[in-house]
Amino acid sequence: MSEDLIEIGKKNAAFKAVEENVKNGMILGIGSGSTVVYAVKKIAEINKTEDLNLKCIPTSFQSHQLIVENGLTLVTLDQYPEIDLDIDGADEIDKSLNLIKGGGGCLVQEKIVASSSKRLVIIADYRKKSEKLGENWNKGVPIEVIPFGYVPIMKKLEKLGGTPKLRMAQAKAGPLVTDNGNFIIDVDFGIIDSPSDIDFKVSQIPGVVDTGFFIGMTSKAYIGQKDGKVIVL
Ligand code: A5P
Repeated sequence: MSEDLIEIGKKNAAFKAVEENVKNGMILGIGSGSTVVYAVKKIAEINKTEDLNLKCIPTSFQSHQLIVENGLTLVTLDQYPEIDLDIDGADEIDKSLNLIKGGGGCLVQEKIVASSSKRLVIIADYRKKSEKLGENWNKGVPIEVIPFGYVPIMKKLEKLGGTPKLRMAQAKAGPLVTDNGNFIIDVDFGIIDSPSDIDFKVSQIPGVVDTGFFIGMTSKAYIGQKDGKVIVL
């Protein structure tokens, strides 16, 4: 039952965000994760029925496949380095619309695309909204790292007050390997008062490729509620 409510929340948020923000001729960034699947279906539908001539840039192998499977036009960041609108999911959203992302392991390409977009619109269900990051998302902040340095990086993350854990693959022995050939370390920092502070310190560690903190990047967040409504923040 609550599983259904979560899926309804994802779908309603995705559909409303697409209906209100996707316009004719746009270059779109297509995020990753399970909520984005609903957005891509809606984008493909209106692209066809309204003849919108949309062009889509992926943020992961998953979103590349979604674009192709839904018959949308796949283009690259090299061709279109300035994106009109990026639609993506999030693992947690705080009161200032700062995010934790990377639960699905795709944060680096997601952040490059978000930073190249005029607007980042986030779609999520009701479980994702918090006052402060770390309140609801308890799997840790994903940090993508170069495999060669993962052990010293974990020690340095501990010194910053975090509890790091190397993310392991499922259905394969050993660690998860990202689309970029790197590892992910999930770091529990408890409830986070100043995400920008931690983000800065973690980003300084040699071998860290990027963090799952998306700070000050979000234009709007569409949150699908249990009652079927969608709150826009
Ligand atoms: C992918 O690595 C993430 O950043 C996703 O955007 C995030 O995990 C949200 O995914 P869901 O829509 O599946 O919750």
